[in-house]
Formats: sequence, structure tokens, C-alpha cells
Amino acid sequence: MRLVAAAVVLGSGAAQAQEPPQPPPVAVAPAIDPDLVDRFTFAVPAQARVTHVSLDLRIDFAEKRAIGTARIRAQLARGATEVVLDTRDLEIESVTNPNAQPMTFMLGEGDALRGKPLIVSFPEPAKGTATVAFTIAYRTSPASAALQWLAPEQTAGGKLPYLFSQGQAILTRSWIPTQDSPGLRQTYDARIVVPDGMRAVMSAEALTPDGEPVEGGGMAFRFRMPQSIPPYLIALAVGDISHKPIGTRTGVYAEPSRLDAAAAEFVDLDRMLSAAEAFVGSYRWRRYDVLVLPPAFPYGGMENPRLTFASPTIIAGDRSLTSVVVHELAHSWAGNLVTNATWRDSWLNEGLTTYLELRLNETLYGAERARMLEALGRAELMDELARLGPRSAATQLHRPDTGDDPDASLDVVSYEKGSAFFRMLEANIGRERLDAYLKGYFTRFAFKTLTTPAFLADLREHLLAGDAALEARLTIGEWLSAPGLPANATTPRSEAFATVEAIASAFVLEGTVDELDPATWSTQEWQRFLTKLPPPMSTEKLDILDARYQLSKKTNSEVLFAWLKLAAASQYDPGVPAIEAFLGSMGRRKFVEPLFTTLVATEWGRPIAQRIYAKVRPTYHPVLTAALDRLINR
Ligand code: BES
Ligand code: ZN
Repeated sequence: MRLVAAAVVLGSGAAQAQEPPQPPPVAVAPAIDPDLVDRFTFAVPAQARVTHVSLDLRIDFAEKRAIGTARIRAQLARGATEVVLDTRDLEIESVTNPNAQPMTFMLGEGDALRGKPLIVSFPEPAKGTATVAFTIAYRTSPASAALQWLAPEQTAGGKLPYLFSQGQAILTRSWIPTQDSPGLRQTYDARIVVPDGMRAVMSAEALTPDGEPVEGGGMAFRFRMPQSIPPYLIALAVGDISHKPIGTRTGVYAEPSRLDAAAAEFVDLDRMLSAAEAFVGSYRWRRYDVLVLPPAFPYGGMENPRLTFASPTIIAGDRSLTSVVVHELAHSWAGNLVTNATWRDSWLNEGLTTYLELRLNETLYGAERARMLEALGRAELMDELARLGPRSAATQLHRPDTGDDPDASLDVVSYEKGSAFFRMLEANIGRERLDAYLKGYFTRFAFKTLTTPAFLADLREHLLAGDAALEARLTIGEWLSAPGLPANATTPRSEAFATVEAIASAFVLEGTVDELDPATWSTQEWQRFLTKLPPPMSTEKLDILDARYQLSKKTNSEVLFAWLKLAAASQYDPGVPAIEAFLGSMGRRKFVEPLFTTLVATEWGRPIAQRIYAKVRPTYHPVLTAALDRLINR
């Protein structure tokens, strides 16, 4: 990677006659906070920062390419001669200045993960800080890691194709040439031309909700995001998409045949928004809509500003999985308004969001539901900590600068240890003080980014109020920088779960399920029951459960997943058709990766995994196939 070239000269100036002779002036690099360095970008922020991206793209489904231009506005430091952008698999046709004259550019050396730097050079060094603009004509590759092109068969309607983007963590550069680092906020606008009969939606204000006809065919949709956001939040979807309002500020987008079900599932959107505002301060993005995508979408939800992208697997029919939407909405503050400066700090996004999610669930649906969700998350964390081992740096909140792909896996530690940290603060300091702190935090850092050390400094000033003894008693340093779960973590307790656990133990010991009354069980109680049965379970026992409760036919994705994971870990042959059907029905990482990981762990499961993967791979998103290729085709 290139280093900051600028150097400052120290030691010059008028030396006093009576002073001892000074050493000769030396050139030293300006101090760069190592915690701020994002090693996944080629950008050199001390030289040039992108401030605005203006897209004009045509979506070509036959070619599987986005084709057009990105006009970049950037701020140069004095003396800077170039702007370095990130690209990955982009074909750059030209770079021109505002007078449409060609500019000098080159694609530098890169690697498979980060892509290649696009270096745009200026004839003269900037005299003072300067604003520059230039236009890049380019096209994306059909293999762009951010874009998934769905065949009509992969949609509910079955007639039109579909396209969506996924930027987090470092994928935006594979469809937009810009500085792709969470610490480098940018505004954007866009004009997107799509085939007739389709609609484009983005994480921005829609200026032409119904599109405008384009001469020669197609429809143009224009968008504007006037608030500066990290580039991983620029998002686009194109397909047969309709909208239905829910409240005055909220609504859902989905394929027409899915719209009513989506609207019914998310009736609470306005209530969620108001509850969040009462908790952490006003909602700064004006509208909140949820786009329900086709099942190939790789995440349960993605917090694209103004427009959360969601998997249809969260539509259970009984609103039991809406906490994913609560989570994505909470990112409107933790993540989108105040953003992790680097991916090493992602717990500031995900951990705080998970904590807000629990608090909001408590307000909206009661303490018992919140405790159940917390207990499920904690159990996942304990499994993950055990898997990684007590000294693993991967279990630190502030992660070491290893250079591992930030998209390599969904990382439970950021979410659940991060959330446990705020829970611990709440238990020791009290809700009132913590809530006041959080409100202030979102105000102080609105539209800014911060590192873990910067967060600690703020915590010291505004919550711990310089009380070093309190800081030591709460083991704040251990929480942020040491592996494992500190001893003062609170333990989530749910009464409903205590009953479920007793029933699970009796079933393990005696194989009896007489007391099991599934009619009254919530989704979360089923999840708890199934994850409390230690694998491998005998075929007889699993037969009993499936015969009685028709688990392989469950339509609730979380319950079905918990059952199929148990089946896979128990080498349960009768479960294989349902595992295969589930893995072929959606591409959500949270379900797909653990199921394949469980299968490949045994001699029994490996050939099953290979056979299924060969069949379903073409339906999965590039970020998922990248992870699974490593796992399965070893
Ligand atoms: N921001 C994440 C999704 C993500 C994480 C994308 C890391 C790329 C890299 C989103 O907010 C999320 O956490 N989604 C979860 C659901 C959530 C309720 C835990 C998911 O996808 O299941
Ligand atoms: Zn999240």
C-alpha cells in the first residue's frame, strides 16, 4: 500500500543566538493515528478526500453490467497532485475534467480483496486546499462482488429479472469508483436508467418515484442523498417493485405479489420509529422504508439509509422475526449517523445497534421478549468464544489490525459482546445516566466516524466523568481490548426459557415430550428448545420430534434453521431432503454458512454438502460463494 507522501519540515525558523546549536532540520512524516488507518482502502485521505459522488448509470440485464459515469468531487490538500480511488473489477474507459478534456489516470497494483487503486493525476499541485471534480466513464463486470443479478425464476413474479447491490463491508468499489472506507463520508446523487416495466430504488430520497421515460426506451429514476454517509451505504435495487405506505414516514417496497404480506408483517414501523426517537433522539433521515428482496439476498437485513434492505425470510406471518427490522432501524443512529471509522471498530456499529435493538424490543413488545432475544444472542456468543478459544484476538471488541477480509464471516463477537458491554454499563451506572450519555453521543458524533480509542475518550469524559476508580472497577479496558467475556457481564434471565430448558433436559434424559406444548410456544421458545438439545441426538429422538411437531415443514425460518442445524449435526438422514430444500430456497448467510459448516465437519456430511452446493451455488450472492468456496471446495 502507498504511504502518505507529504512530509513536514521541523526545526527551521529563527534560532536564537544564545541557544546551543540545533541539529540539522529533519523531514518526518506527520503523525498518523494508527487506529485511524484503514488498510482496506487505497485512498490517501491526508492528500485527497472524495466529498460527493454523482452517478449516471444504465442497468443492462442482458450484459449484467451497470454502464455509465461517476462524477467525483474531492477536496485536495495543499500540494497534492492526485486523487486515489478504490476500484475492483471495473473497466475504466476514460477520466475527464469539467471541460470534458481527458485527464491522466492509471490503475495501480492491487490484490484480489482490495481491488486496484485508480490514480487520477492533476497537472499542477494544489495551491491551498482545493475542490476538484472529474468524471469517470466505466462499466462494472458481470462478476462485480457487490451486485447480484437474479434470473426471473429467482423472483416471486418469475417474469422479470432483478438486481440489487450490497456494499458492506468493502464491496461498493466493485460498482462505484470511489474512496471506499467507512471513515470517508460522502454525499451522493444518481440517475439510474432501467428497462421499461421496472423500478429502481436507492438508499436516498427518490426524486422521481415513478420514473421518467427515456428517449429510445427505458425509464430513468433520480435520487439524492444530501447527508454524508460512508460509501458502504450507497445501495440500489432494480426489479418489479411496488410501494405501500404504512405510516406517514414509513412504508414497504416489495414485488407486487409480496407487498400485502410485507405490509402486514411490518405494521409497527411507525411505532418502532417513534420508540427509537424517544430513546436516542430525532430520526435524521426523514423517511424509513423497508425493501423486501428476493430470497437470494444474503443478509437478514442491511441498514441502507432511508431504505432498509430485508430478506423475505424475516416474514414469518406472525411478526415474530421483526426484531431484524428493529435492528436495522437502530442502525439509523448506531452505524449510519455515527459510523465505525475502520472495520476493526465494527462493534461500535453492531454492538451498540444490538443493544438498542434489545431496549427497543423491550419498549415495544415487553421485557420477556427482550430477555429471550438477549439470552439467544448470549448463547451464540458463548459458543463462538468457546470455538475461538480464550486467548483469541478475534474475541476482542477492538480487533487487531490483521488484514483479514472484513466480509469473511458474520461476526457474533461484535454484536453480542458489544451489546453485553452496554448492558454491563446499564447495570452499573443505571439506565437514566446511560440513556442520557447515548443521546449525547449521537448528537456529538452525528455524521462523524470514530475509532474505539476515540469512543473510550468520549466515554471517559461524558459518562465516567474522569472517575478512574470507576473505570477500573468496570474493567472498561478489559472489555474493549482483551479477549473473552469479562467477569462482570450480566446474565440474561428469562422465565419462559427456564421452563423450556427443563423440558429440553427431560427430553434428552428420557426421550419424553409429554409436557411439551408447542401450541403456546413462541418462535424464541422453539429456538431455545432446539438449541438446547446437544448434538448428536439419536435418530429415534429426532424421529419423535419431527413426527410430533412437523419440524421439517416449519415455515418460520429461524425455527426451521435451528431444527436443520440440529439434524445436520446429528447426521440425521431423514433430515437431508429438508436441508437441501432450505439451502436451495434462500441465500441468507446466517443460515447458509452454519449449515454448510456443520455438514462439512463430518465424513457423513461432506459429500452431502458438496452435492447440494454444486446445485445451489449459482443462486447465491458473490459474498456468500466467496466464503463457501473456501469452505467446501477444499
Ligand atoms: N449490517 C449488518 C449486515 C452486514 C454485516 C453486512 C457485516 C455486511 C457485513 C446488518 O445490520 C445485520 O446485522 N444483519 C443481520 C441481522 C441482525 C438482526 C443480526 C443478518 O443479516 O442476519
Ligand atoms: Zn447490524
